[in-house]
Amino acid sequence: MSISSAAPWRSKAARILASAAVAALAGMFCAPPANRPALAQSAAAPAAKESCATCHVGVVTSYSHAPMRHAMDLPGANPVLETHPNLTTQIGQYTYSVQTKDGKSTYSVTDGADTMTLPIRWIFGIHSQTWVLEKDNHLYESYVSYFPRDNGLGITPGDTKITPTNLTEAMGRKISTWETLQCFDCHASGAVSGVKLTLDTLRPGLDCERCHSGANQHMADAQHDNYSTLPKSLKKMTSEDVSTFCGQCHRTWDTVMRNHWKGPAFVRFQPYRLESSKCFIGNDPRISCLACHNPHEQLKHDAAFYDSKCLACHGQTKPSATATMYKACPVAKANCTSCHMPKVELPGGHAPFTDHWIRITHPGDPYPG
Ligand code: HEC
Ligand code: HEC
Ligand code: HEC
Ligand code: HEC
Ligand code: HEC
Ligand code: HEC
Ligand code: HEC
Repeated sequence: MSISSAAPWRSKAARILASAAVAALAGMFCAPPANRPALAQSAAAPAAKESCATCHVGVVTSYSHAPMRHAMDLPGANPVLETHPNLTTQIGQYTYSVQTKDGKSTYSVTDGADTMTLPIRWIFGIHSQTWVLEKDNHLYESYVSYFPRDNGLGITPGDTKITPTNLTEAMGRKISTWETLQCFDCHASGAVSGVKLTLDTLRPGLDCERCHSGANQHMADAQHDNYSTLPKSLKKMTSEDVSTFCGQCHRTWDTVMRNHWKGPAFVRFQPYRLESSKCFIGNDPRISCLACHNPHEQLKHDAAFYDSKCLACHGQTKPSATATMYKACPVAKANCTSCHMPKVELPGGHAPFTDHWIRITHPGDPYPG
């Protein structure tokens, strides 16, 4: 497959043409002023317990339920573990059990003769979950994970090729220092400084500062009525820059190409899939991740929610006088994503992902890429 034909935006000529064609539109789809943060009160009454919520209450409230806020959890009050105090499974000759009692969770594996029991240190994931364990000053990714679809334990995605030969290997996969840094940097905040793991300052999940760097300084200054240090606005990025920003963790197109990652295992890397689609025009805000997703909110599962996003380019009504419109669908007028963004089962993943390579597909068509 030639990269430039799969991703027209990546070809220089297409990029120049497209930027000339849509340059005039830049900015026209910016969020209206009504979307500005609700300033619940004036900054004139700074209290010791000032927080982002003092001034951005709407964002803070919705973000408290967002998946990225809970990308990592500490044992103690995890809803999955609390409601499943006794999880067990047998894989080959090993029996696993995850027990939760009085706010403490342990992970055990036994081969019948010997048993290894370790405390669960960090819980990764809000839907499925994988545990990170510590043994002899090394970190391990648990060999089994919890999957909501099975309502039970199964082999951790990515580990299905490993056949454990001893109890430690059966417990988990030892993670290198480099991989550990990345895991904690994508799922938590304040856990990495340069190339050092700083677990003493770890805050589980992504907090505001993780995406809005400088926000804490802004809060401190805002308390003294100083608004000269606002964090950089993330609203002004082009679709391509948004894709790269989200791709820090959801993986960029460049990362996937550089690593020669191919096949359905990589369907979960939405920035790469989306940028491979003919729909992707790097400076058209209608195809930005933010056109379809608000990072402060829960993911919308209703296909109809996304129709207006597609119709902004493929519909009859121009969103603005100068907007370039593209061909309409000869087949249907609603639920566009149900046919054009098919669900793809991740090998060994126990959950489907949504293919962001928007395209015409027919049953039995091979998976592209
Ligand atoms: C005392 C009030 C106050 C507090 C506390 C505060 N902010 Fe703000 N913030 C503002 C005001 C006012 C603006 C400018 C609003 C505008 O541009 O409409 C702003 C702007 C921002 C922006 C830029 C929005 C944009 O797109 O231009 C971000 C991001 C932000 N704040 C995040 C935070 C975070 C995160 C915290 C907590 C760590 C926080 N703020 C605490 C008042 C506050
Ligand atoms: C610092 C890393 C990081 C960045 C940056 C980031 N994400 Fe995420 N995102 C995650 C992680 C980790 C999860 C998994 C949360 C979970 O399910 O435990 C996630 C989950 C999500 C989900 C929910 C998926 C689901 O199945 O519920 C959406 C939607 C999402 N991210 C969109 C975005 C968008 C859009 C951006 C860019 C504006 C972005 N993310 C930037 C790390 C990140
Ligand atoms: C480059 C950033 C990155 C790294 C490194 C990373 N993750 Fe993730 N992880 C994500 C993102 C983004 C998602 C959400 C989308 C997805 O599932 O791919 C996610 C999803 C997950 C999920 C599924 C969440 C759910 O709700 O179903 C688990 C479990 C998980 N990661 C565990 C780990 C563990 C354990 C490590 C390290 C051994 C790790 N991740 C390393 C970014 C990362
Ligand atoms: C995963 C990354 C991410 C996290 C975490 C995050 N934001 Fe944002 N935030 C964004 C992006 C991207 C935008 C631009 C949204 C747009 O253009 O639609 C934004 C916009 C904003 C804005 C201005 C626009 C608006 O919606 O009012 C404010 C204020 C803000 N964020 C505050 C916060 C606060 C407070 C938190 C923590 C409670 C937070 N953000 C957490 C990515 C993030
Ligand atoms: C044109 C709309 C659209 C755009 C643009 C878009 N998404 Fe999505 N996204 C969807 C739909 C539809 C779903 C599936 C929702 C459902 O049914 O659960 C989804 C699901 C997701 C999920 C959940 C995991 C999965 O794959 O099912 C993540 C994470 C995500 N998107 C991230 C992103 C990121 C990052 C970008 C930008 C690179 C992006 N999306 C751009 C429509 C879009
Ligand atoms: C930024 C504008 C834009 C948005 C938003 C957009 N598209 Fe497209 N789409 C295009 C362009 C440009 C093409 C390629 C040129 C053409 O065929 O007219 C295209 C092509 C397509 C094709 C034909 C692809 C092929 O395989 O030949 C389908 C199907 C499609 N889009 C569906 C959708 C759906 C469904 C959505 C919403 C989830 C969507 N598009 C959102 C611009 C967009
Ligand atoms: C029931 C499945 C289904 C739904 C729902 C659906 N489409 Fe299609 N769409 C198709 C098929 C099949 C084709 C290919 C038709 C052909 O080649 O004759 C197609 C073709 C297209 C094309 C390419 C048109 C061309 O002339 O090249 C676009 C763009 C498109 N659809 C956009 C959309 C949008 C936007 C929506 C939602 C409003 C949508 N589709 C809903 C099945 C669907």
